Amino acid sequence: MCGIIGICGTDFVAERLIAGLQRLEYRGYDSAGIAVIDHKALHRVRAAGKLENLRQSYASAPIDGLTGIGHTRWATHGGAEEHNAHPHGTEAVALVHNGIIENFHELKATLGDVVWTSETDTEVVVHLLEAELKTGADPERAMIRVLPKLEGAFALLICFRDYPDTLIAARQGSPLAIGQHHGESFIGSDAVALSGLADQVCYLENGDWAVLKPDTIQIFDAANKTVTRDFVANTVQIAGLGKGNYPHAMLKEIHEQPGVIGDTLHSLIDPKTLMINWADYPQSQYLRTPLIQFTACGTAYYATLVAGYWFEQLCRIPIRHEMASEMRYRDIVCPQNSLGIFVSQSGETMDTMEAMRHWQELGGQTTAIVNVPTSSLAREAHHTIPTLAGPEIGVASTKAFTTQLTALHCLAIWMAEQMGSIPKAQAQSMVADLLDLSGKLVAALSIIEDYKIIAKEVLAPASGVFFLGRGLNYPIALEGALKLKEITYMHAEGYPAGEMKHGPIALVSPELPVIFIAPSDRWFSKTFSNIQEVAARDGNLIMLTDQAGTQAVKEHGLDHKVRCITLPDVPETLSPILYSLPVQMLAYETAVCLGRNIDQPRNLAKSVTVE
Ligand code: G6P
Repeated sequence: MCGIIGICGTDFVAERLIAGLQRLEYRGYDSAGIAVIDHKALHRVRAAGKLENLRQSYASAPIDGLTGIGHTRWATHGGAEEHNAHPHGTEAVALVHNGIIENFHELKATLGDVVWTSETDTEVVVHLLEAELKTGADPERAMIRVLPKLEGAFALLICFRDYPDTLIAARQGSPLAIGQHHGESFIGSDAVALSGLADQVCYLENGDWAVLKPDTIQIFDAANKTVTRDFVANTVQIAGLGKGNYPHAMLKEIHEQPGVIGDTLHSLIDPKTLMINWADYPQSQYLRTPLIQFTACGTAYYATLVAGYWFEQLCRIPIRHEMASEMRYRDIVCPQNSLGIFVSQSGETMDTMEAMRHWQELGGQTTAIVNVPTSSLAREAHHTIPTLAGPEIGVASTKAFTTQLTALHCLAIWMAEQMGSIPKAQAQSMVADLLDLSGKLVAALSIIEDYKIIAKEVLAPASGVFFLGRGLNYPIALEGALKLKEITYMHAEGYPAGEMKHGPIALVSPELPVIFIAPSDRWFSKTFSNIQEVAARDGNLIMLTDQAGTQAVKEHGLDHKVRCITLPDVPETLSPILYSLPVQMLAYETAVCLGRNIDQPRNLAKSVTVE
């Protein structure tokens, strides 16, 4: 939530700050703003709404300087209006903030006669700092006095009129990356913010704060002791961040799936032996786990629901699923040596992070499946399996989801084979199936007209949509409904097909299309009965299926009632990966028909770093 960036440089910063905000806009787009120091004066420009509004305000009244900060906001405290936009400030201090200052109300009461200009929790920090500066404290001393007063999870970035070559940053929970290049210092919410600015980045740890000058970076820990943090290569390439030749980043990312699933597979599989390549995995600990608990949020949570079927079936281990926002506050039981698998695209989702820390405090082992290898989750987990989806910019997750499924499937095969619950030959044959998937994914993406027609004729005019599936594809029904909700704002529900008769069938009508995710797998005959039940009630039916499923529709004389989208045949265990693509495409094409803002849907943000 919220993206922040700062530059302490030797060249003008305003344009570079705005370009950085564009890369960060996926974190929030309720408002944006920058502040710069020029000739001993602090200048701010802010605008409600998308970054384009800030660009226009900036163009009509340009400001610039050699030191500056910028912010793109996902509103928490105070509406999406200009007076709540960051940077907040006075004549002497300007500040941007990601996260929540939980005790802002109590702190405000300590400040006496302040004229408040916003409804944010952030503004209190500005006035606390200014009060310290007025006592004669320099920025470092002011930080040392103010930071211990702040409660919550936050990242702060501050510039000071009277110290034009200084930026101060602090991290308590929300991430901050720092880089340097050619005598200039850069700081941002993540490596994406710094791509094109710094080739090497280091990450502040919790409780760290830092003083940036153009040619120096000093980092202090929570006890104000100087510390060093390791620099790593910033591998995010600006070239990969745009829309390419596609109209939307989401469509580009949908089409990248065959490639990035292949990349993820090749990072995990030895193609010669067809075995999963995890020589350094702590087998003795993990293979004795009495249960596996999966924990995640949003789309990543649905990936773990699919994984539950794989691990249960292949490893014969009890499985537990938890939503991170619930699990972190539960008095949960962690049997000795239990393995917790935490899945996250960003690796910065606050609830997932806290849930993992909770599991570690209970003595559990932790494996993180993460798309950002330098993220907090990746760094704090006992072991990390990176997904190689590359930067995902579309707010609706697509390629991150299917690469998570890919990595989870590999882990399930590896554990099952190591535990002896499946023979080596079966593991090798499953790996071969995975390697064979990419052509089928390409084929599923090639039938664009099928998705367009159904989106236009059936989904876009509908009042709502039901997604139904059984077994491995029940979570894909949930994900299909979530994708449609996120980018079309239509009401959609995912349900286990067998549960439909226990209530939801009351809603079936020609205005409420029902999408069945129904490959011809072991659940097919049951699902097909549910399809007949909906057809008998004149439901508006769409079926995502394969050749055999399409044939069954014809044989039962239902072809005038059921529109089939016929996908390539795929081994049963892999169908959730393949069937993710049509549900993404249906959501995308429906959003196009409805003229929605696909890459920046209302009220959402990609990375949720608040509770
Ligand atoms: C937000 C995003 C979702 C994402 C979820 C978890 O809600 O909008 O697309 O699935 O966070 O994010 P993570 O980065 O932990 O996978």
